[in-house]
Amino acid sequence: MIRISPLKTPIKVNLEVNGDKSISHRALIFFSLANGKSEITGLSKGVDVQSTKKVLTQLGVEIHQEDEKTVVRSKGLKDFRQPDEPLDAGNSGTTIRLMTGLLSGLPFPTEITGDKSLQKRPMHRIVEPLSQMGAKISSSPDETAPLKIEPSALHGIDYTLPVASAQVKSAIILAGLQVQSGETIVREKTLSRRHTELMLQSFGAPVHVDGSVVRVQKLDEPLKSLNISVPGDPSSAAFWATAAAIIPDSSVVLKNICLSPERIGFFTILREFGLKITLEEKSITPEPSGDIRVVYSQFSDIEILKEHIPSMVDEVPLIAVIGAFNTGHKTVVRGAQELRVKESDRISAIVHNLIQMGVPVKEFEDGFDISPNSKPTGGNFKSFGDHRIAMAFSIAALGAEGESTLDDAEIASISYPEFWEHFEMLRKSAET
Ligand code: S3P
Repeated sequence: MIRISPLKTPIKVNLEVNGDKSISHRALIFFSLANGKSEITGLSKGVDVQSTKKVLTQLGVEIHQEDEKTVVRSKGLKDFRQPDEPLDAGNSGTTIRLMTGLLSGLPFPTEITGDKSLQKRPMHRIVEPLSQMGAKISSSPDETAPLKIEPSALHGIDYTLPVASAQVKSAIILAGLQVQSGETIVREKTLSRRHTELMLQSFGAPVHVDGSVVRVQKLDEPLKSLNISVPGDPSSAAFWATAAAIIPDSSVVLKNICLSPERIGFFTILREFGLKITLEEKSITPEPSGDIRVVYSQFSDIEILKEHIPSMVDEVPLIAVIGAFNTGHKTVVRGAQELRVKESDRISAIVHNLIQMGVPVKEFEDGFDISPNSKPTGGNFKSFGDHRIAMAFSIAALGAEGESTLDDAEIASISYPEFWEHFEMLRKSAET
């Protein structure tokens, strides 16, 4: 358990956060489809990304570090070998869901599982479309991991995603690259993050993006060896933006962040509700990236609806933190039932921790409603084994009236191992 005292003076920092987690997973997986030596700069050091690395290594892909570069050596899918043991995705939903799509087309049986939290998360959402493609996947009776995958001949499908999920979309695309016949079409009602399709398209894979429709053909030849520089993670940048939003007179500049529209809903919507945010695009390939500047300012009422959720799905705990400090104004989040099946039940974790701070909050199945009469005190925060909950409420502790505690600070390393180092930088910036 750690103690966190509030900051009484403004923060002023320029920060480079860790490499984007979603792009890091994908770079490792897609580069293992290439023949030769590929290089990644700025790969996330998070434990989740390590899980993807480990799973690919078990399948025979060679991955090692050369100074700042992560080098992936592969001969493509045909050279993958049957692992001796079940594959372990740890805590990582992205690893298990994307890899199951990939494993579905391999010519040998595999098994993939994860830690206790991952074994509770819904897998029906990938098993169902992959089975429609001909995959043979068996799961536990409640349709969770471990997943056992038998070799099978896959064929294309035309599938509309029932939930906005980039993990599900990516699993289908990865299976679609390995079909024996037909084209695979994935349609989305609300766009989720598009890294898989945009990266694969830019790497020369037979993937075509047309608005909210992705078309995938069989990958006949391995991809050519590739390079990527991973931009900063907007979900990590959002912690420091929140600190600037709740501590009067603060300002932060977050450098070289992924600015894909499907990832930065948190920033664009808060700008609509009054937070001073400037986005400065510096590069556009394969996706935009650049700097984010956030300056403390007053908000209006905040209302987040279902259509906003996919572009800020991991930042909802931070909306709750901002809502707690948005005294005199209401904060409402609805249409966020997906949060109930993340690393923890995030709606109930958010509500628990807000109550710890003395914040009046109403819980709904799909969200919460924070009263305008909120004056947050410090609290004894619980992470519920969830990295994003731990980090979000440690930021809340910086703005609160009085001391707070947090039970499981180390869990931040799942997505953001540098979090506490950056937290100290922030604290020091307020002291000088
Ligand atoms: C991710 C997609 C999102 C997100 C997760 C990372 C990805 O999950 O919450 O942290 O990299 O594809 P869903 O696909 O379940 O929405």
